[in-house]
Amino acid sequence: MAQILDGKALAKQIQAGHVSQIQTWQAAVGRPPGLAVLMVGDNPASAAYVRNKERACERMGIASLGKHLPTATTQAAVAEEILALNQNPNVDGILVQLPLPKHLNATSLLALIDPDKDADGLHPVNLGRLGRGEPGLRSCTPAGIMRLLAEYDIPLAGKTAVVLGRSILVGKPIGLMLLAADVTPTFAHSKTKNLAELTRSADILIAAVGVPRLVGKEMVKPGSTVIDVGINRVEGAEGGRAKLVGDIDFAAVEPIAGEITPVPGGIGPMTVTMLLENTIASYRNRMLAETTP
Ligand SMILES: NC(=O)c1ccc[n+]([C@@H]2O[C@H](COP(=O)([O-])OP(=O)(O)OC[C@H]3O[C@@H](n4cnc5c(N)ncnc54)[C@H](OP(=O)(O)O)[C@@H]3O)[C@@H](O)[C@H]2O)c1
Repeated sequence: MAQILDGKALAKQIQAGHVSQIQTWQAAVGRPPGLAVLMVGDNPASAAYVRNKERACERMGIASLGKHLPTATTQAAVAEEILALNQNPNVDGILVQLPLPKHLNATSLLALIDPDKDADGLHPVNLGRLGRGEPGLRSCTPAGIMRLLAEYDIPLAGKTAVVLGRSILVGKPIGLMLLAADVTPTFAHSKTKNLAELTRSADILIAAVGVPRLVGKEMVKPGSTVIDVGINRVEGAEGGRAKLVGDIDFAAVEPIAGEITPVPGGIGPMTVTMLLENTIASYRNRMLAETTP
């Protein structure tokens, strides 16, 4: 049976590890790190994610300075809120909760965030820094995957990886991060031919697709490391109740993989933790900039 890579427990441990340092900084600086989550509209899944992030902030001593705007808010009004948060000295991290209502252009709104407050690491400047191998705020889900692999001492250099999915949110940045760690990554997507043959060759398989249980045992190399990013809500799965499942068929793959992440409790909690670490990193950088003559 595969070793379970327990993102939930690890995330808890990492978050707890920051608490006393944050208290010390707060006493010295006079304010805690601040994260502003901007939510527009009433998407119930988004509301649950935002609550999750706010609770994690509270546990760590990070101030939640978010705003919840009505669905009908105009592009100009959301832009104005973002620009105000850029200027707010108590805000170190800004996150615009996606998806936004259909009338809003997410790409142009995300580009307005100050790149040095871009807690989600999705600003073009930060994606450019990642591509160039320069320091910067990294996108949270791929950063969470890399941290999980590092904390479990999974050797990476010289290995092959197949990344299923090529989104800006997960697929592309995780490929770049693996490359920077001396892995040889291959991207696969909906047009990839002979998918199973390709994925079976991978020492590390990352699934970020959004198709419930797409990856069965015949697609996985025995002994490989399998990372499941997918979060899919399957209605009426168990006694009529909805259930969250990943892109990996966990029951089928666990017996043959070397390591595997569960859904829920794998990459999700690590993503939130990286968001908080980005906020802390931005707070530290801004404090240093203020105290350095
Ligand atoms: N755990 C977390 O914290 C976290 C964070 C972010 C996302 N997620 C989850 O991760 C999943 C992916 O998210 P995303 O934002 O990256 O999704 P996305 O933007 O919809 O991208 C999905 C990717 O999967 C590819 N794909 C779709 N069907 C495929 C198939 N049958 N075979 C191979 N590739 C296929 C698509 O290919 P094309 O490019 O050819 O269309 C696309 O590149 C979702 O379930 C999402 O909820 C989880």
